[in-house]
Amino acid sequence: MKRLFLYSAILIPSLLAAQPRWTIGMSQCNLGEPWRVQMNADIKKGAEGHPEVKVIFKDAQNDNLRQLAHMEEFVRAGVNLIIISPKEAAPLTKPVADAFRKGIPVIVLDRRVLGDQFTCFIGADNKKIGRAAGEWIARLLGGKGNVVELKGLMTSTPGQDRNSGFREGIKGSQINVVFEADMKWLEPNARKEMESALARQPVIDLVYAHNDPAAHGAYLAAKASGREKRILFVGIDGLPQEGQMYVRQGILSASFEYPTGGREAVENALAILNGKQVPKEITLPSHVYTKTTIDKGGEWLTP
Ligand code: FRU
Repeated sequence: MKRLFLYSAILIPSLLAAQPRWTIGMSQCNLGEPWRVQMNADIKKGAEGHPEVKVIFKDAQNDNLRQLAHMEEFVRAGVNLIIISPKEAAPLTKPVADAFRKGIPVIVLDRRVLGDQFTCFIGADNKKIGRAAGEWIARLLGGKGNVVELKGLMTSTPGQDRNSGFREGIKGSQINVVFEADMKWLEPNARKEMESALARQPVIDLVYAHNDPAAHGAYLAAKASGREKRILFVGIDGLPQEGQMYVRQGILSASFEYPTGGREAVENALAILNGKQVPKEITLPSHVYTKTTIDKGGEWLTP
């Protein structure tokens, strides 16, 4: 009896202490790409050391309807906060707004939704990244050349901004975009589109791809047709195990970092759950990695 009392005196408080106080629902638009796996890992890592919070991860497998269902499931389950990295802006605007209006704080991460019915948006400045890529490419090519642009899903905001920023960046130069296609963020699509570009364009100087998987897909297509040495490749994301590695291997001339924002999402989630006010918009800085800068950790993009 005495022993039982002793056990419960030790066990019960420690069990209670281990009980998370808050549940965060995290809806990831897909886990097919290394960048998104990294985002989830960053969130997991950010939540480590915070036993007061538990994160439930869901994968929408690149399907808007499935992601919409995540929002409804999280609301029904009564989670304390939602983090969503949405696939497309328009279809996910209402589900996010519905959860937000029901009083659940929502952090939108990386890709945007429309309007302002959410608590906080966290992401890097895609327009600035696109513009910096355009200016850098114009300099690299001495102000003229034929470029292929492999665009990310154009119904998602990073695709739109990386395109419009790039066009601003090359304005005034004699860079011609001789082929452009929406590869929907996917390497196999990029490879196929690049095959068409190669078939139609005898001279391609550079490929500007909206993410590193697409830049790599384009490189593989060029390699298969024996033209990879005459073409330069530039991508975006800059993961150590992907874009940065391609730069080191000489496959990419540059990779522009697109931070996942996973750590910042958890930091701000905890602030919100603790009753603090957070900014409506949090813009993350990014680096550019090139052969000459990669060993010193790349360079910050200037404003
Ligand atoms: C992954 C990804 C990244 C890209 C981001 C944009 O799904 O395509 O490569 O930078 O999404 O939202």
